[in-house]
Amino acid sequence: MNELKLGNLISEGATVDVYESGDLAVKLFKPDAPKTVVFYEALMNSKVEETGLSVPAVKEVEIIDGRWALASELIKGSTLEQIMKDEPENRDAYLEDMVELQLDIHAKTVSGVTKLKDSLREEIENLDIIDHIKRYELLTRLDSTPKHIKLCHGNFGPENILVTNDDKVYIVDWIGAAIGNASADVAKTYLKLSLTSTEMAEKYMNMFCEKTGTSKKYVQEWLPIMAASTLAKGIYTKEEKELLLTWLDVVDYS
Ligand SMILES: Nc1ncnc2c1ncn2[C@@H]1O[C@H](COP(=O)(O)OP(=O)(O)O)[C@@H](O)[C@H]1O
Ligand SMILES: [Mg+2]
Repeated sequence: MNELKLGNLISEGATVDVYESGDLAVKLFKPDAPKTVVFYEALMNSKVEETGLSVPAVKEVEIIDGRWALASELIKGSTLEQIMKDEPENRDAYLEDMVELQLDIHAKTVSGVTKLKDSLREEIENLDIIDHIKRYELLTRLDSTPKHIKLCHGNFGPENILVTNDDKVYIVDWIGAAIGNASADVAKTYLKLSLTSTEMAEKYMNMFCEKTGTSKKYVQEWLPIMAASTLAKGIYTKEEKELLLTWLDVVDYS
């Protein structure tokens, strides 16, 4: 029984396609998507709704033509990624807004969800494109990091921030969210931004460190781990893979 009728395609991605359906946005997973992933995103989104952060509310999970579909409130507006492209002169101010938004996320915690450190360990253990020495080095580095329980988005970047015409901001795509160390989350954002612009990524990390009084070295320590995690997810272009592999080998900063 199909309740939802799909309208315009909003976005086409590696793991999901997003469609409009009346006043809903329907995230349609690729046929091989594990059921647990779909329900984890629905659970995580619901938990984040309870924190009071601005996210589109989940409304339904169902199967459409054999594919899992996650329907949430449709947000009419643009991604921050598009806005930053359209207004390059305001890019720094938007980066600043992004840091503030990420700090709002880190100020929250939720219970009963994945611990970032556990999922990172699993990803590193299963990453088959590194040798056992690199794996040992990354796991040792991960083990030495402090345990934190801050809410981390896990894939925080301008493409996952929606802005409406009256400037209301929503954060989407909570599939990789977990609780853990804020610096790990910022290192992930740094890597995402650096795939587009190293300068932008550097500015972002500097802004975060200044605002929070965090030493840059502390965030940079996470870069090889988060590069491994990104590689483990297996979604990258050839150029992105090369860049991520170089981040794996960056060991000491001074
Ligand atoms: N609730 C929503 N309302 C409007 N647009 C959405 C909504 N959820 C997602 N989108 C759009 O679809 C895109 C992809 O969705 P997202 O959840 O980020 O999946 P993925 O990045 O895995 O493809 C987003 O960048 C955004 O443009
Ligand atoms: Mg996304």
